[in-house]
Amino acid sequence: MVFWSCLFFLWLKASPANAGEWSAKMPESVVGLSGSCVLIPCTFSYPENEKTYTEFTGIWYKEYSAVVYNKDTSKIAGSFKGRTSLIGDLRQNDCSLKINSLSSSDAGSFMFRTEMKYFKYSYGEKVSIIGKETPENPNVSVEEEVTSGKPVTATCAVSHSCPSDLPKVTWSHHGKQSSPSQPQNHGQWKLTSYNLTFTPSREDHNKRLSCTAEFKGKTVTGYKTLKVKYPPYNVNVVAKSSVKENDFVELTCSSNSNPPANSYQWFSSNGKMLAESPTYKLKRVSEAISCTAINTEGEKSSGPQKLNILYPPEIKSESSCQSKILTVCVCIVDSNPPSEVKWFGPDSSKAFSSTSSKQNEFTLQGWLGFPETVQCFANNSLGSSNITLEAPQNGIIIYIAVGSAVVVVLACILVYVVRRRCGKRAAQQPVMKNEQTQKTTQNKSDLENKEVKGSNEDIYTNSSKGRVYDNWGCGATPFSSDRALEDEAVYANM
Ligand SMILES: *[C@@H]1O[C@H](CO)[C@@H](O)[C@H](O)[C@H]1NC(C)=O
Ligand SMILES: *[C@@H]1O[C@H](CO)[C@@H](O)[C@H](O)[C@H]1NC(C)=O
Ligand SMILES: *[C@@H]1O[C@H](CO)[C@@H](O)[C@H](O)[C@H]1NC(C)=O
Ligand SMILES: *[C@@H]1O[C@H](CO)[C@@H](O)[C@H](O)[C@H]1NC(C)=O
Repeated sequence: MVFWSCLFFLWLKASPANAGEWSAKMPESVVGLSGSCVLIPCTFSYPENEKTYTEFTGIWYKEYSAVVYNKDTSKIAGSFKGRTSLIGDLRQNDCSLKINSLSSSDAGSFMFRTEMKYFKYSYGEKVSIIGKETPENPNVSVEEEVTSGKPVTATCAVSHSCPSDLPKVTWSHHGKQSSPSQPQNHGQWKLTSYNLTFTPSREDHNKRLSCTAEFKGKTVTGYKTLKVKYPPYNVNVVAKSSVKENDFVELTCSSNSNPPANSYQWFSSNGKMLAESPTYKLKRVSEAISCTAINTEGEKSSGPQKLNILYPPEIKSESSCQSKILTVCVCIVDSNPPSEVKWFGPDSSKAFSSTSSKQNEFTLQGWLGFPETVQCFANNSLGSSNITLEAPQNGIIIYIAVGSAVVVVLACILVYVVRRRCGKRAAQQPVMKNEQTQKTTQNKSDLENKEVKGSNEDIYTNSSKGRVYDNWGCGATPFSSDRALEDEAVYANM
């Protein structure tokens, strides 16, 4: 750019030195954007006699034939009519030409000719016009790192071939656009800068700031990715995982910021600072805690956060079973979310549900037979745990053993006593029993038949109430019906 503008300038200055010769200065080639206009810089000189010339005519033509420009517009070739003009002052030796609405058919060599009062001259120098279909992409420049909330100015440099056909420039970000700069020479092109003053936000971080230049029918875009520095936001206390070590969980302070937070602070719910470290170890069951994330741009607190720390069940060792008449087992399960609790007796294929539960205490109460152990199994979505509880037999066994022993002893005593008394009474009171004896004799034969079949059930259903006691067989010999009657009497007396 500098090179060309210097060249152009020097050459304008130099021309008077060449005064007296027939010479024209123009670049060898000029690149123009199709559809836009193009400028051909040009100066010329001629031999100066004593006479000074005031009447000049400048003519541009292409390939020695077609007239591109003539003051007399009727002489201009059809394809250039209305599109060309001299933009310099011929009296100042400026022969610069502007061609509008450049098209690809304009490509070729252009030459200048001057006609003065006494002589005419066609210069031998040539400039070729090169039509370019696509404009160059604009260049966006902005500070490497911007700060959220702080206004900044971005520049979009657009190259074009002609200042009178400036493109329409739009930005991807809203902001205040300033008027374009004066076009600067940029090699064969002109460069115009467009400024946008805007206030970046954290949302703009890593987003493209783009500038779109719309030429006649052609649109090009340039961009630069914004790097926005912003203080922390979205600050949260996060439990690192459900993995627990001795009831502690490791907490981290998550946040979003650029650059990343470089220090942290931890506060208890009453505002007391607990630590200044990236992580904090917290007892599993606890009150709210807050963390503050700090970076170069500022700091932000999470605010008190109560954590819902999830962990698999842990069955407390206080869990136990007691056996009274029924077995009563209590399983104390600590978990979050709450666990599902199942019980297994000796037959592990059969699960029992808790009969009642209160918070983390699950109770199984019921007749389970006489298991030596009862297993409590707890699971939640994070895992499972089980414990095998001893079910003490002492209570129930003693109860049953003593109970049975007492009954058996009592029964034997009774039988003994009754037998003895029966022997005496049989002799003393035969009449009393006649009717009944006959009946019972009949019953006895029935009974014997049935006893052969040997079904207790039959006995219960068919026999008289007294015979129920037959089940308590004291000796090998079954009671006679007489004795059964006597038994009945005895019991009735009791
Ligand atoms: C953009 O920058 C590149 C590299 O610096 C340069 O080659 C190009 O000419 C520039 N374009 C414009 C439109 O200034
Ligand atoms: C555009 O912004 C640049 C950089 O901030 C500044 O140097 C230049 O003067 C501005 N130009 C205009 C036209 O506002
Ligand atoms: C416990 O495990 C059983 C299968 O073993 C499953 O069906 C049930 O959903 C689990 N309960 C919970 C709370 O995860
Ligand atoms: C009970 O826990 C032990 C480990 O403590 C495990 O090996 C076993 O598989 C568990 N039993 C059931 C039924 O989950």
